[in-house]
Amino acid sequence: MKLILSKKIPYNRLKADALVVPLFKGEKESVYALPVSVKKIVAAVIASKEFQGGAMETQLVHTGGNGVSRVCLLGLGEKKECSLDIVQRAYGTAIMRLKKAKAKSVVLLVREDAVSGEAGPGSAGKDKAVADIVGAIATGVRIANYHTHEYKSKKKELHSIAKCILLVPSTIDRTIKSALTRAETIVDGLDFVRSISNSPANYATPQYVAESAKELAKKTPGLTVTVFDKKQIEKEKMGGLLAVAQGSQHEPRFVICEYKGHPCNDDKGAPCRPIVLVGKGITFDTGGISLKPWKGMEEMKFDMAGGAAVMATVAIAAKLKLPMHVVGLVPLAENMPSHTAYKPGDVITISDGTTVEILSTDAEGRMVLADGLCYAKKYKPSVVVDVATLTGAIVAALSDYASGLFTDDDAIALTLERLGKETGDRVWRMPMPKEWADHLKSPVADLRQVPSARLADATMAALFLKNFSDAKTPWVHIDNAGTAWKTEGYSYAEAGATGAPVQLLVAWLEDLGKKEVK
Ligand code: BES
Ligand code: ZN
Ligand code: ZN
Repeated sequence: MKLILSKKIPYNRLKADALVVPLFKGEKESVYALPVSVKKIVAAVIASKEFQGGAMETQLVHTGGNGVSRVCLLGLGEKKECSLDIVQRAYGTAIMRLKKAKAKSVVLLVREDAVSGEAGPGSAGKDKAVADIVGAIATGVRIANYHTHEYKSKKKELHSIAKCILLVPSTIDRTIKSALTRAETIVDGLDFVRSISNSPANYATPQYVAESAKELAKKTPGLTVTVFDKKQIEKEKMGGLLAVAQGSQHEPRFVICEYKGHPCNDDKGAPCRPIVLVGKGITFDTGGISLKPWKGMEEMKFDMAGGAAVMATVAIAAKLKLPMHVVGLVPLAENMPSHTAYKPGDVITISDGTTVEILSTDAEGRMVLADGLCYAKKYKPSVVVDVATLTGAIVAALSDYASGLFTDDDAIALTLERLGKETGDRVWRMPMPKEWADHLKSPVADLRQVPSARLADATMAALFLKNFSDAKTPWVHIDNAGTAWKTEGYSYAEAGATGAPVQLLVAWLEDLGKKEVK
C-alpha cells in the first residue's frame, strides 16, 4: 500500500473510492472544510442517530457523485478518552470496512486534535502530538490492510487498498514525515512476523524460518544473520534444543541476528554490552510424546511467533539506525512425537552443563530458551529479554489483553508497562516469588522441568528460565502466548498473527537509545 501525506486535497478534482471523516462522540459536524455535498451527508447521518461517534464505529454512505464515491464516518469515541491506541485501531477499523467494500483508493482526514499534546498550540509539544497521531494512523491503516493470500488458489477474490492519502491540515514538517517512515518501518517488521507466523508449519520449517531471517538481512543494511545448523548446534552442546528437535524429520537451527548501531568500544576501550533478545522458535508444537489434544492444535504453528518478533525487532532497530548494539537469538525446532522423540523421564543437559529432568515434552519452550539464554551470556549483555509463547496459563490469565511480564527489575518493568500502554502492545507484570524455585528441585537432575503439582504454570516457567539468566544482568521474560495471534478477527485486524510484542520492544529500544545519546 502506498501511504501519501498531503496538505490540501483538491476536492473538486479528487477521485477516490472513499473519504474517511473522523468524529468524536456528540459532534454535530466535521471540523474540516468539506465539500457541501459531503457536509450534507455527514449532517444527515448524524441527525439520523444511526451513527453516534463511539470508538471504532463506522458508517459507510455512497455519495452518488463521481469524485469521492463513498464517505466513511469514523467514530473516535469520547474526546477526553482518546489515545494513540484508539486512533490506531479506529483508523484500522475504517480500512477493514473499506477493504470489504472493495475500495482501492482512500483519503483519510487526520484529526490533529485526537490526542491533546502536552504543550499549548504552536509549541514543539503540539507538533510532536500531530506526528504521533500520523504515526498511529499509518500503523493502524497498514495493520488493517494486511492479508494472507499465499495459500489461496484464487488470489483475485482477495482485496486490499492500494493507495491511501493522509490529509494533514497543518504544515507537513520533518517530524511528521519521519513519524510516517518510522510507522512504515515498524509495520514492515510486523508484516514479516505475521506472514512467517501465519505460514503453515509444513512450509515454515526451522530451515525455512532461518532462510527468511537471511532474506530479511539481505533487505536490511546493517543487519547480519548467522545460522547454526545441527552440527554447529551439537558443537555448542545445546542439549535442550537438540532434545526438542530429535523427534522431527526437520533439523533444528539456531539463528543469530545482529545490528551494531554504534562503535563497540567506549572511551576507555571497554567492549560495549549489547541488548540481547531471545525468541522461542518452535515451528510446530504437537506437545511431543506428551501429545496435545487435537482441538486448537493447529494454532501451534504460531509457536515461533516470539522468535519471529525478535528477528523483526533487530531488523527494525537497524532500519531506524538506533544508537545501540542489539543481538537476537532464535532457537528453531519442531516438537514432534516419534520413535526418536525425547521422553518424560529423560535427563537432558543444557549447554551450560545444567541437567534437567523431563516431565512433559510439551514444556519444550523452556528447553530451547535455556540454551538461548546460555548463549546470550557470551555477549556480556547489558540486558536480556526473552519472548516466548510459553504457557497456556498466561492465556487463561490475560487473554489477548496483555503479554505476561516477568522480571525482578522494577525500573524496566515500569518502563515497559508505560510503553505498553502508549503503544497498545501491553504487558502485565506477573509475580516471580523466589521461594517457589524450590518446586523445581529434582531428585535425579539439577532441575525439574516443571513442578510436580500444576501450579502457576506461567510463573514456574519464568522461574525455570531464571536459572539460565545471569544474576548480575537484568533479565526480562515476556510470555506472549495470549497476544501473538488472534483466533478471531477484530474490527481493526484480521485473525492470525499480530506481531506482538514488536511495537513494544521497538518503543523500548528507542527509549534506551534516548538515554544513551544524552
Ligand atoms: N506452546 C505452548 C503454550 C501455549 C499454549 C501457547 C496454548 C498458546 C496457547 C507450550 O509449549 C506448552 O505446551 N506449555 C505447557 C506447559 C505445561 C506442560 C507446564 C502448557 O501451557 O500447557
Ligand atoms: Zn508445548
Ligand atoms: Zn510450545
